[in-house]
Amino acid sequence: MKNVIITGAGIGIGRATAKAFGAAGWRVILTDVLETEGAEVAAEITAAGGAAEFHFLDVTSTEQADAVVAAAEKAHGPLDAVICNAGIAHKVPLDQMTDEKWDHTFEVDLKGMIRVIRPALPGMKAKRAGAIVCVSSIMGVAYGWDEHVHYSAAKAGVVGLVRGLAVELARDGIRANGIAPGYIRTAQSLSPVHSLGEPGLKAAAEFIPMGRVGQPEDIADVILFLVSDAARYLTGQTITVDGGLLVGRY
Ligand SMILES: NC(=O)c1ccc[n+]([C@@H]2O[C@H](COP(=O)([O-])OP(=O)(O)OC[C@H]3O[C@@H](n4cnc5c(N)ncnc54)[C@H](O)[C@@H]3O)[C@@H](O)[C@H]2O)c1
Repeated sequence: MKNVIITGAGIGIGRATAKAFGAAGWRVILTDVLETEGAEVAAEITAAGGAAEFHFLDVTSTEQADAVVAAAEKAHGPLDAVICNAGIAHKVPLDQMTDEKWDHTFEVDLKGMIRVIRPALPGMKAKRAGAIVCVSSIMGVAYGWDEHVHYSAAKAGVVGLVRGLAVELARDGIRANGIAPGYIRTAQSLSPVHSLGEPGLKAAAEFIPMGRVGQPEDIADVILFLVSDAARYLTGQTITVDGGLLVGRY
């Protein structure tokens, strides 16, 4: 059985990704700061006949990331895939942008990824196999997002992260790719304070060529593809999954 670790897997895109991997026969090492939600998702996967376990992991802690990866490897062997999904998108106008607010977003959205990838690499290298997927955003690959400059910058950083990882790890048999979701219906996008809220999502559906905002499962299935053998020659890319938004004309 292959092992995948997923960050921020208690709700939203991470939850859908955990369930997709569980249904596809992977052992899911679910992690999040949301303990109740994370444990519930693990229980749902197990009840459906899959294999899953929840570990508390705040991706701003190197110590926790090292410990969770070590515990998973001790119990189940090297990881086959790492999905860096945990993220925050706090609205901060530039005149309120302190170093602390900037750094916090980078600690979660960008540095939080390398913290989890790093301890998984020796095991993957030893097996000469592995796949990494990091969640960027259309706000990182194409759009600027006003009052979320730190978020756009961190998500653009994810594109560079996967390029660098892909090249350095290619000869170890490890692939690294990113995914840039468009507007996906989750707690993050539904927040009226930090993001679009329900009215904003409804308005967005009007100008998305496919006529609807995305569901978490629309992203989860592409993450599963990126990790699969079907994507064996694909590395260093960040794939936009947005219902045609960026190529649309509006
Ligand atoms: N929803 C969208 O429209 C959209 C679009 C583009 C990109 N994204 C990205 O997709 C990813 C998932 O977001 P979502 O929309 O499912 O949002 P969400 O708010 O539903 O989920 C985010 C998850 O990250 C976790 N998280 C936050 N801080 C953490 C920390 N310090 N340590 C560990 N986990 C932490 C949360 O607990 C939660 O489980 C994020 O990286 C987000 O930026 C979302």
